Amino acid sequence: MSADPMLQLKNVSKSFPGVKALKNVDFSVYPNEIVGLSGENGAGKSTLIKILGGVYQPDEGTIEFCGEQTKIPNTNAAINMGISVIYQELSLVPELSVAENLFLGAVPQHAGKIDYKTLFRKSQAILDILGLELDLKGKVGELSISTQQLVEIGKALARDAKLLIMDEPTSSLGREDVEKLFDTMRNLKAKGYGIIFITHRMEELFQVTDRITVMRDGEIAETRATSEWNMDDLVFSMVNRKIEQFYPKRTVEIGAEVLAAEGLGNKLIHDIHLKLHSGEIVGVAGLVGSGRSDLLKTICGAYPVRYGRLLVDGKPCKIRSPREALKKGIAFVPENRKEEGLVLESTVKENIVLSVLDRLAHGGVVRNAKIDRCADCAIDDFKIKTPSCCQKVVKLSGGNQQKIILSRVAETEPEILLLDEPTRGIDIGTKVEIYNKIMDFAEKGTAILLVSSDMAEILELTDRVYVMKEGRIVAELETRNTDSKEIMDYSTGGK
Ligand SMILES: Nc1ncnc2c1ncn2[C@@H]1O[C@H](COP(=O)(O)OP(=O)(O)OP(=O)(O)O)[C@@H](O)[C@H]1O
Ligand SMILES: [Mg+2]
Repeated sequence: MSADPMLQLKNVSKSFPGVKALKNVDFSVYPNEIVGLSGENGAGKSTLIKILGGVYQPDEGTIEFCGEQTKIPNTNAAINMGISVIYQELSLVPELSVAENLFLGAVPQHAGKIDYKTLFRKSQAILDILGLELDLKGKVGELSISTQQLVEIGKALARDAKLLIMDEPTSSLGREDVEKLFDTMRNLKAKGYGIIFITHRMEELFQVTDRITVMRDGEIAETRATSEWNMDDLVFSMVNRKIEQFYPKRTVEIGAEVLAAEGLGNKLIHDIHLKLHSGEIVGVAGLVGSGRSDLLKTICGAYPVRYGRLLVDGKPCKIRSPREALKKGIAFVPENRKEEGLVLESTVKENIVLSVLDRLAHGGVVRNAKIDRCADCAIDDFKIKTPSCCQKVVKLSGGNQQKIILSRVAETEPEILLLDEPTRGIDIGTKVEIYNKIMDFAEKGTAILLVSSDMAEILELTDRVYVMKEGRIVAELETRNTDSKEIMDYSTGGK
């Protein structure tokens, strides 16, 4: 590590109405270094990097970049300085080629026309830095999410970034793609770049970072070299308490069959046979893109059934929309909660009670006091970090937005619960609470279908597992008689 930091923040504070998001933050990044930034949902991680990206202005404190004290008044200023933030929502144009995307807005021109020769030469140089082999003329929309993410990093390099900041880049990637991203990160680090990496997957911090900074309630709790952390210390530093039992699996009596698919299919999933019983937790494993989400969406009526049939409580049942599914006791928590689940411009309480307004109404009139009580309970229950139940959801941190949709579903007391990656983007302390909620549901007799890319979740929480590959169920396994290797073998087709 070189002697002088590339980036140094001193005493940085930032408040929003009702929230002190950052308090006297000191933080640094050196060249040739990957710094992990961790902390519970709402700890202030994204706020910190939005300050570096020029999205927010600090109320107090100083920023030094490459030895000079500086201000970052807007996003362009950040990019021009060499600070590039790669957000989870990628900013690529799917219809344009890889090369055009790399230099979007800065395509080399000659005599008023695109200078393709220079564009391709420069683009190839970027791919070389990334260690990536790609067709520069291919459309970005046709690449996998993980490759698109690498192109997004390439875009930052094309703008001469020195400091790359990645906010939860791995949350929608599978194992292998994460490895690919890490290789690229290590490669960039060796070339002198500085990287800030945010993730809620603890093991990733140990795999790829050189130092780990923990934030808690807007403050820097602690920074240490990665070699000086262990998992227990790190978790303790984040949540400020000891977590005794990470996977609270309980013994629940498994009851009658509540859901069955008989040869169910459409364009995306094929010839699906499955069964789900009251009180049972059934995992759906498989690689990203194997059809797991499509399966849940077909069951809850978001996608049409083309053939085969669905039985609820033994009776054939046609479900045309998630709303209709909910009426039949089937609740669905989508993976893409921001787009599919929340009304971002509405308040926390409106979002929580959205599905149960009838229950809270009396003689056709919705009682405000009842709504407030219901929302306050949910906020307590799920430890949703918000200044009040009247805050707009768009202003909450990513993880807290996720908790809202889970709490809304909990309010509906479903008979069948379809969960798609319920702990994505959720901090480690809250994960345990969500596992407990899942167990509570099972104990009350809810049947649960759980899609998860987290192998430990599948192995520790479920009773049975279906493995999917290319839109089909390729294996049904008893959880206690299987292991991650067998599940991976089926997922990849090795078995
Ligand atoms: N624009 C905003 N207006 C009001 N409050 C905000 C705004 N942005 C963030 N906050 C609040 O600041 C705090 C820190 O949020 P931040 O998004 O930085 O958390 P985070 O560490 O990134 O969490 P997560 O892991 O859930 O993404 C939270 O309490 C959040 O509600
Ligand atoms: Mg965040």
